[in-house]
Amino acid sequence: MHRTHTCGQLRAEHAGEKVRLQGWVWRRRDLGGLIFVDLRDRSGSVQLVFNPEEVAEPHATAEEWRPEWVVQIEGEVAERPADTVNEGLATGAIEVRVRRADTLAKAETPPFLVEEDSGALEDLRLKYRYLDLRRPPLQRVLALRHKMSIAVRNYLDEQGFYEIETPILTRATPEGARDYLVPSRVNPGSFYALPQSPQLFKQLLMISGFDRYFQMARCFRDEDLRSNRQPEFTQIDIEMSFVEPDDVLEVTEGMMRRLLEVAGLPADPEFPRMTFREALDRFGSDAPDTRYRHELQDVTDIVRDGEFRAFSTVAESGGAIKALRWPGGAAAGRARLDRLTDLAKSQGAKGLVWIQRNQDGFKSPVAKFLGDEILNALCEATGTGVGDALLIAGDEWEIACVTMGAVRKDLAREEGWIPEDGGFKFCWVLEFPLLQASEEEGRMAARHHPFTSPHPDDLDMLESNPRAVRSRSYDLVLNGMELGGGSIRNNRNDIQQRVFAALGISPEEAQSQFGFLLDALKYGAPPHGGIAMGYDRIVMLLSGQKSLRAVIAFPKTASATDLMTEAPAPVGQEQLDELHIALNLPDDPGD
Ligand code: AMO
Repeated sequence: MHRTHTCGQLRAEHAGEKVRLQGWVWRRRDLGGLIFVDLRDRSGSVQLVFNPEEVAEPHATAEEWRPEWVVQIEGEVAERPADTVNEGLATGAIEVRVRRADTLAKAETPPFLVEEDSGALEDLRLKYRYLDLRRPPLQRVLALRHKMSIAVRNYLDEQGFYEIETPILTRATPEGARDYLVPSRVNPGSFYALPQSPQLFKQLLMISGFDRYFQMARCFRDEDLRSNRQPEFTQIDIEMSFVEPDDVLEVTEGMMRRLLEVAGLPADPEFPRMTFREALDRFGSDAPDTRYRHELQDVTDIVRDGEFRAFSTVAESGGAIKALRWPGGAAAGRARLDRLTDLAKSQGAKGLVWIQRNQDGFKSPVAKFLGDEILNALCEATGTGVGDALLIAGDEWEIACVTMGAVRKDLAREEGWIPEDGGFKFCWVLEFPLLQASEEEGRMAARHHPFTSPHPDDLDMLESNPRAVRSRSYDLVLNGMELGGGSIRNNRNDIQQRVFAALGISPEEAQSQFGFLLDALKYGAPPHGGIAMGYDRIVMLLSGQKSLRAVIAFPKTASATDLMTEAPAPVGQEQLDELHIALNLPDDPGD
C-alpha cells in the first residue's frame, strides 16, 4: 500500500483527486465537530480534515492521534474555502477530506517540540537528535547540504576530476592537530591513525598520474573544539597536476560560484587576492573580514622620533606601530578601554594606547609624552576627527598587526560595523610564511604542512633566513572565516628534504614517518598542488547558520562526545585484552 503523493506535493490542481498519504501527525486541532490534522513528511505538510458527519470512523481514529504518531490516510483533495487559504504554506490552497485513517506507529510525547523553534536546550536536542532532525530547519539544511555535494561532484566531474577514496585506517598525516588512534588487534602494540586529511594520498595519486583528484573526504582531528570545528568533518579535497596557484584558485572560484547558485545566493562574487603580508598590514588577520572597511594604518614613521619611548624603541628595533580609528570612540568609558587593553595584552602586545579627541583637545594617558604635534599628525594621517578615538599598538610587526586585528574584530562586533546584510565577501590570502616558531616543540613548525613548496624567489634563504621564506600557499576566506587552504607541493625530493631540514626533522625521522612519500618523489612526481575546502563550514555560512552542529546530521559536542550514542564509551576488559591494551587512568577521571 504505497502513498500516491508526499505531503508537501499537493496543490490546487489536485482538487478532486483521491490520494493516499503517509507521514507524522504534526499539529491536531479538535474543534468539537471537526478535527484538523497537519500531516508532515520530508516534503512539507498538508492539512487533513475529519468531518464526522461525512464519515464517522476516521474521525474516531483521529481523536486518538497525538503528535508524532505515524499514520496513513485516504481521502479526497479539496480546495479550501477562500477565507481559509494559507498563502504562507505551499499546500495552503487545499486540504484533504479524509475517508479512511490508519495508525501505523504510536509515539510517546516527544521531549521537545518538533517545530521550527523547539524551545529546548541544545543538549536535550542532541540526545534525541533523531527527533531534532525532524524539525523543518534541520530538514532544510540537510537537503541543501545534499544538493551542494551533488553540485560539487558534478562541477568537478565537468572539470575532469576523478573522485577517488583514500584510506581511513592509515598513518599520521601532520596537519597540526593530535591524531585519533585505532589499535590493531592483529599487530599488537601498533596503531592506525585516522587521517587528519588525505594530504599524502592525494599527492601519491598525482605521482600515479591521475592528474585531477577530488574526494568528499572525512577528516579526523583531536583538537580544541569551537563552533567552527568538529572532531570529524568533511573536506572537499582537491589535487591537480601540472598547475600553478592560479589554476587551483580558478577551479575553486568556479566551484564556489556553483555552490552559491545552489544555495539561492547571488552567484557572482568577487575574489580579491592579497598576500599574507598585506592581509596582516591592513586587517591584522590572515582571515580578514572584508565586510567592513575600518583598516589598520601604519603610523611608525609618525611616532618614531617622539618622546614616547615605548613607540620609539619599537620603531628603532624594526617593529611596527599600527593604529585603528574608532569613529565615535571619544565617548567610550574607562571600563571599555580597559577591556580593549586586556584584549590587546592577550594577543601578546604590551599594551594598547588610546587617544580620544574631544572639542577641547586630546585625552590620553600618553598625551603629554606624544605632544600636540605628533597627536595632530596622527589624527591627520588616520582621519581621526572630533568625537573619534585612535587605538595604537606597537610591537614586533606580526604581534602589532594581530593585536590590532583582534581589537578591530572586537570593535566590529560591539559597534555594529558588520552590516546587517553584509552579504558574502570572499578573499584569497596568498604566500603565507613557510615556517613559524613553534613554542610547543621548541623548533620551527610548518605554517601549513611540511609538503608545501617554498616560494621559488625565496628558496635560497631556506637555510640562511628560514623565517623570511614565503610559501606557494593560499587560503580562501569568507566573511572572516577560513573556508579552505592549500598549496603547490614539493615535487622534488631534494627540496622536500631541505624543507624537512629547516623544520628540524632529521632525514631518519622523515624517512620513518613519510618514507613512502619521499621514495615516491624519486619516481617522477609531476608539479602538483591542491586545496581542501571545509565542506561543513561552507554549508554553515551559505545556509546562515552559526555552528557546524547545525549542518551535521549527528555532530559532537564541544567536548567531542555524542550525547545520543554516548560515544566515546569505556569498553570491556575482554576487548582490551584482545587489543593488548592496559589502561593507565588518572586517579580522578574528572581532572
Ligand atoms: P587545512 O588543515 O587548512 O588543510 O584544512 C582545510 C579546511 O578544512 C576545514 N577544517 C575544519 N572544519 C571543521 N572542523 C575542523 N576541526 C576543521 N579543521 C579544518 C577548514 C580548513 O580551511 N591537507 C590540507 C589542504 C591542502 O593542502 O590541500 C588541509 O587539510 O575549512
